[in-house]
Amino acid sequence: MDSPIAVIGGNGRVGRLVVEKLLARGERVRVLGRSERGSRHRSEAEFFRADVREPATLTAPLAGCSAVVYSVEPGTSDSGSDSPRATMYQGVLNALEAATAGGARPHFALVSQIYVTRPENSMNSYGRLLDWRLAGEDAVRAAGLPHTVVRPSWLTDRHAAGSAVRLEQGDTGDGKICRDDVAEAIVNALYLPAGAGITFEIYNGSGSAGTDWSRLFGGLRRDEAPAAAR
Ligand SMILES: NC(=O)c1ccc[n+]([C@@H]2O[C@H](COP(=O)([O-])OP(=O)(O)OC[C@H]3O[C@@H](n4cnc5c(N)ncnc54)[C@H](OP(=O)(O)O)[C@@H]3O)[C@@H](O)[C@H]2O)c1
Repeated sequence: MDSPIAVIGGNGRVGRLVVEKLLARGERVRVLGRSERGSRHRSEAEFFRADVREPATLTAPLAGCSAVVYSVEPGTSDSGSDSPRATMYQGVLNALEAATAGGARPHFALVSQIYVTRPENSMNSYGRLLDWRLAGEDAVRAAGLPHTVVRPSWLTDRHAAGSAVRLEQGDTGDGKICRDDVAEAIVNALYLPAGAGITFEIYNGSGSAGTDWSRLFGGLRRDEAPAAAR
C-alpha cells in the first residue's frame, strides 16, 4: 500500500503477528502502544507511544494511514479509565476520529470477540465488556469506512483445535482459534476486496490447513449500513 498501516496494540500477541506479516509484505508499519517494551526486535516498524483513551496521542500516528488495525486488550473495571467502556468503545471512537481527520478513509480492522451479542454470558460481568465491545463494533460499522470486524473465539498460541479455519456469522458458536490465523485473517482482509464490509467469528477445526481467504470472505454476508446512514 502507498501509505503506512497503523497497528494499535502492535506489541500485543495478535498485534505483533499482524505487524510481522505486514512487514513481510513490504508495508510501512506504525506500532501504537502505551509502552515500547517488546518492540525492539522489529526495528523496521516505527513505534509511537499512544493510548487509545488519550485522543491527542493518536493524532500523529494515525494521520495519513491507509489502514488501521485495532487490537487492544480491555480493562475490566466497572467504570473509569480501566473499563471496557474506555478502551473498547470510547477508545474506538477516538481512533476513528483521529484516523479520519481531514477526510481520510482508511480501512479500519477491529479485533473484537465472540459472545458480543450474548450479554447473558459471564464475561459481561467484567465492566459490561460484551456490551461495550458491541458498541465499539457498531461505531466501526457506522463510520462509512471500508471495515472488517473480526470476532476471535478463545485465542491460543498453537493450533489446539485443528488447523483448518472456519468463519461464521450470527455469534452462536464456541471454540478456539490460533492467534496466527487471526492475524492472517486481518492482513488478508486489508488486501482482498471481499475482506471489506464484513463481521465474522473465526474458529479452528479439523481439516486441511490451506486457507483460501478470498473464498472464505466471499461466502459471508455483507454488513448492512446502519439505519442512520441509509
Ligand atoms: N484471550 C482470548 O481468548 C481472546 C478471545 C477473543 C478476543 N480477544 C481479544 O483479542 C485482542 C488481541 O488479544 P491479544 O492476546 O493479542 O492481547 P494482548 O497480547 O494483551 O495485546 C493487547 C495490546 O493492547 C495494548 N493496549 C492495552 N491498552 C491499551 C491502550 N489503552 N492504548 C493502546 N494500547 C493498549 C497493549 O499494549 P501496551 O500495554 O503497550 O499498551 C497490548 O499490546 C484483544 O482485544 C483481546 O481482548 C481475546
